[in-house]
Amino acid sequence: MLALTVNWATWVTRNLRAVHLATGRRSSTRVVDSHRPSYDAGSPRAAQSARKLVSPEEFRRYGHELIDWLADYHESLADRPVMAKTRPGEIRDALPATPPNEPESFGAAIADLNRIVLPGLSLWQHPRFCGYFPANALPAGILADIVSTGLGVIGLSWQSSPAVTEVEEVVTDWLRQMLGLSTAWSGVIQDTASTSTLVALICARERATNYALARGGLQSEQRTPRVYVSAHAHSSVDKGALLAGFGRDNLRLVPFDAKYAMRADALAEMVAEDLANGDLPVAIVATVGTTATTAIDPIAAIADIARRHGIWLHVDAAMAGSAMILPECRWMWEGVEGADSLVINAHKWLGAPFDCSVYYVRDPEHLMRVMSTNPSFLQSSVDGQVKNLRDWGIPLGRRFRALKLWFIIREQGVSGLQKRLRRDMANAQWLADKVATTPRWRVVAPVELQTVCVRHEPLASDGTALAGEALDAHTTVWVEAVNHSGAAYLTPAVLDGRWMARVSIGALATETSDVAAVWAAMQEAAEESAT
Ligand SMILES: Cc1ncc(COP(=O)(O)O)c(C=O)c1O
Repeated sequence: MLALTVNWATWVTRNLRAVHLATGRRSSTRVVDSHRPSYDAGSPRAAQSARKLVSPEEFRRYGHELIDWLADYHESLADRPVMAKTRPGEIRDALPATPPNEPESFGAAIADLNRIVLPGLSLWQHPRFCGYFPANALPAGILADIVSTGLGVIGLSWQSSPAVTEVEEVVTDWLRQMLGLSTAWSGVIQDTASTSTLVALICARERATNYALARGGLQSEQRTPRVYVSAHAHSSVDKGALLAGFGRDNLRLVPFDAKYAMRADALAEMVAEDLANGDLPVAIVATVGTTATTAIDPIAAIADIARRHGIWLHVDAAMAGSAMILPECRWMWEGVEGADSLVINAHKWLGAPFDCSVYYVRDPEHLMRVMSTNPSFLQSSVDGQVKNLRDWGIPLGRRFRALKLWFIIREQGVSGLQKRLRRDMANAQWLADKVATTPRWRVVAPVELQTVCVRHEPLASDGTALAGEALDAHTTVWVEAVNHSGAAYLTPAVLDGRWMARVSIGALATETSDVAAVWAAMQEAAEESAT
């Protein structure tokens, strides 16, 4: 895996050097080409406004400086505290309350990045960051993001920048192939899984109501619409159902089994009960890799119920979707071809810097019918031959996010991405084994992917294992202690009504030695709290 085996700064410098070689220019011999557009267009008015802009030479100089700054940041991560030790309001107080009236030097802003901003960051790319889920930023993806912003183009329609649409078409299809999905799926990049799931629920609503949006909206429906999710689904599903107009009362929480997966038998019963009551089952959202424990809902059995009753099935594989590039993990979403839509966050474990959520649908015509508005000023003569991705989601404007996926897949190769994910899963098993074989420690949920859920259960003064609220207090104390020490960053969560610690492995830089260091910090903090 290239980006992990070479030093980060070397990698960036080498690649920038490749850009310089390709363009025949080196950073040390920079010249402003006479044929290139200049900020100083010659007129007195242009000259006056140009005074306030960063000049091309300054842009180049600060750009190189900031790449060096980022390379240094990544190289020094392991020596920094993982979690910010900032007091609430501390950063705000360090910044002027009013904007500068006169231009400041750009160097002053960079200096404040170091002085004020950096100490106020919790470090998601740190090798001992084990909180939430990984949000990896591969170097190739960082450079793609810079290019995307630097190009300054917006994909309002195919014609507004054809490459924005067509690179996205190709790269979402590459990812489809990498995930082992059939050609029946078409992909589009959304900002987040929250948006993807909202879009899915709106599409489900429209299919079930035969396009209520073209008539009186959801409120004109006679039957009560119902959405089914497991109690372990992500809060974004709850939010999406509310925003799509279903109402909280119509969100049915399906019970889960001992592995925290949705119970298909309970789902079937709920649907039957609702149908008997004259309600309208609209959508089921199943999760592959739930947020608390990475539980796997049984997609095949759920798809069967959805198909029988014509219910929309949306699969939230925001986290676990990345693992589907590993053939040995694909059992986790067996039956996925029976779903109507699915979402995978390439901005989590896979390594495209945030944001890059890939939404796949089997019926793009339906998606376009629901999302299309097509005002005259956006129409063009080629509309019949091209994709207009504004009709594939909520926003009109589209960033060139596809570049991030394109760059990372090319730079890592599928094999490089697979190798890293396998490393992380092996590291999670390593930790799970250590926890399971250490007295008074317990792994509290199956380790399906890269997240290990644990509790430390010391003896109380009466010789019995700590339980109830006392156990909760102990867990939150030792997790906080780990986080405040700066040695690692864990996020606790409630499971079966009690706090536990999630150790979510998978930052780019995390090696087994880092996991061992996290485990040592956990043991030290827990022992300390227990005494
Ligand atoms: C399973 C699952 N779904 C959805 C989300 C929300 O992702 P986003 O921040 O892209 O909306 C998360 C976030 O961690 C998640 O774990």
